[in-house]
Amino acid sequence: MTPADSDRLAAIRRALMDWYSLHARVLPWRMPPGSEVRADPYRVWLSEVMLQQTTVPHATPYFEAFTTRWPTIEALAAAGDEAVMGAWAGLGYYARARNLLACARAVARDHGGVFPDTEAGLRALPGLGAYTAAAVAAIAFGRRAVVVDGNVERVMARLFTVDTPLPKARPELRALADALTPEPEDFDPGDWAQALMDLGSRICRPRLPLCGECPLAGDCQAWASGTPEVWPKKAPKEKKPRREGVVWVLVDKAGRVGLVKRPDKGLLGGMLGLPTSGWDAGEGEGPPVAADWRVVGTVRHVFTHFELELTVMRAEGEAANLIWRELAGAGETLPTVFRKALVRALA
Ligand code: ADE
Repeated sequence: MTPADSDRLAAIRRALMDWYSLHARVLPWRMPPGSEVRADPYRVWLSEVMLQQTTVPHATPYFEAFTTRWPTIEALAAAGDEAVMGAWAGLGYYARARNLLACARAVARDHGGVFPDTEAGLRALPGLGAYTAAAVAAIAFGRRAVVVDGNVERVMARLFTVDTPLPKARPELRALADALTPEPEDFDPGDWAQALMDLGSRICRPRLPLCGECPLAGDCQAWASGTPEVWPKKAPKEKKPRREGVVWVLVDKAGRVGLVKRPDKGLLGGMLGLPTSGWDAGEGEGPPVAADWRVVGTVRHVFTHFELELTVMRAEGEAANLIWRELAGAGETLPTVFRKALVRALA
């Protein structure tokens, strides 16, 4: 790195931290910028797991509900699987909820309820990935760590006009984020990580970035180019395959709905759900019970790797092999695709 480069990096760091000290979002897991008190590792970890793949507004009510019901890692570790999976319903990526419990139980059992305070120690916990380990090490423990999520990738791609398309550009973007990450003596690592996240989500937005308000515009190569939003470059997306299936809504005389527990492995694993056919063409499983089934509509849902269209069928009846739940409130504990089906069946 030349002296000019290192001056530029220092200017970017200073400008971002000045901006963050004025514009940091107030969030329930976060300490204000410059705080002497570090955030609670349990709350930081929980928020980071929830915030992967979803937005702050969507995750925040879940965060509040979890921390009210399970205020400590020991409380969460002692919770039953079904209670936690039910409370997670609607956040998606259900393997994450199972990993969350496995991790909470490992911290409670093997570490006396205290999170390891290094990136490597955190990474060794079950289900705790590279991103989460870096984020928790920086935010909860003040360790220098290179915290790279989609927001940070976008900021790096624009600041330094990285022309390699994603996902191939990942190592390059990470190296740039590393070069830019300050030393803990200069800026707090947790403030730094969260400043970049806030900049990425509020200013350096995927579309219509607010460059006029950006503290880094003067140092940004994408801004200088006049078309900042063309970065990050992306490899063309492959179209998702489409699958079809049937979902059955059986309602009994007492106003309850019949559910099944999905197998632990596989999509929506371990969650309660409505009975369905297989989701691959030709895979046929019949309804859970013989009844006067009527088609009431269809629902669509987009998963990571495919789009699903389910025909919703409804009937009144009883079946001993189902798990029965009151209709009122049942939707809240189900994954979104089943919520949609229930709403359609009851409309
Ligand atoms: N997205 C992921 N982690 C975040 C955090 N700690 N603050 C704001 N947005 C985030």
